[in-house]
Amino acid sequence: MARRNKITVVGAGNVGATTAHWIAAKELADVVLVDIVEGTPQGKSLDLAQAAPIDGFDVKLVGANSYEETKDSDVVIITAGLPRKPGMSRDDLLKTNSDIVGKVTDEVARVSPDAFIIVVSNPLDAMTQVAFRRSGFPKNRVMGMAGVLDSARMRCFLAEALDVSVQDVTAFVLGGHGDTMVPLPRYSTCAGIPVTELLPKEQLDAIIARTANGGAEIVGLLKTGSAFYAPSLGAVEMAESILKDKKRILPCAVYLEGEYGINNLFVGVPCKLGKNGVEQIIEISLTNEERAALQKSAGAVQELIDILGI
Ligand code: NAI
Ligand code: 2OP
Repeated sequence: MARRNKITVVGAGNVGATTAHWIAAKELADVVLVDIVEGTPQGKSLDLAQAAPIDGFDVKLVGANSYEETKDSDVVIITAGLPRKPGMSRDDLLKTNSDIVGKVTDEVARVSPDAFIIVVSNPLDAMTQVAFRRSGFPKNRVMGMAGVLDSARMRCFLAEALDVSVQDVTAFVLGGHGDTMVPLPRYSTCAGIPVTELLPKEQLDAIIARTANGGAEIVGLLKTGSAFYAPSLGAVEMAESILKDKKRILPCAVYLEGEYGINNLFVGVPCKLGKNGVEQIIEISLTNEERAALQKSAGAVQELIDILGI
């Protein structure tokens, strides 16, 4: 009998628990939810397991405070760490979360040496680099989720402005997951038509600004944490493309070695995700202005990497 896929989600907070929820609802894989807080991953897994008879999903859900149950996971999604509070930037989380992500990665690499790692913890691009260095995994097996979220936010705002279905809107966001991210309206479309032909520049500029500020907008509203429904589904979309070998083209933080003129750094660019993880990095042509914006964004990520010395 074929073995069911197994996904470990580390961190059973808002993003982690919601990730487990989406995975179960999609019947994508069995889930092991891990957290340092005793009872939390066990309680949330049990609650989700008790939702299964109502919805009819058949996946096994387990909660744990250690890694033995996570052994031989196919995909590990790392959401462990602190979220932002109002007034905090993602980068304020740098030191605390790099310690957490480093320790988590050591455990993941020990018990699931063949897994694909998808990092969600912030600051995203730097934390993905921590996971890459600490795991020693090849670059096709370590990636960060942010571009799916940032482009989903842009799609949401574009669809609202155009009064059309979100299904017909695509959006393109490059760069690090921070204030310097690079939304590209030229490559964003409604039913194949570039949105630059459908919306006036002032309206597009407002959407670009709202996209770049999308995380802070939600932190400001929630006051006690950051976004979790869309971020968790972004990570699950990436996992699904790998496990089902869908070869989706998704914006992901991946290790660049010369692509887009960026070296030895995780930055968000469009990638093909399939059974081998990051199977291709897609390079698109950029105007001088767009290239400069991407370089600036990569520079902001590099500053964090320099602080961490990795
Ligand atoms: P949360 O506070 O609700 O959950 C974090 C969980 O991590 C807590 O349950 C905590 O006990 C756990 N944790 C801490 N240290 C741990 C360790 N060593 N091992 C296992 N678990 C540990 O936070 P939330 O909202 O779930 O966010 C999680 C992370 O994801 C934050 O860093 C946040 O900034 C980031 N994030 C990133 C996004 C992105 O687009 N990349 C979007 C949304 C959140
Ligand atoms: C977000 O963009 C906080 O990075 C998180 O919502």
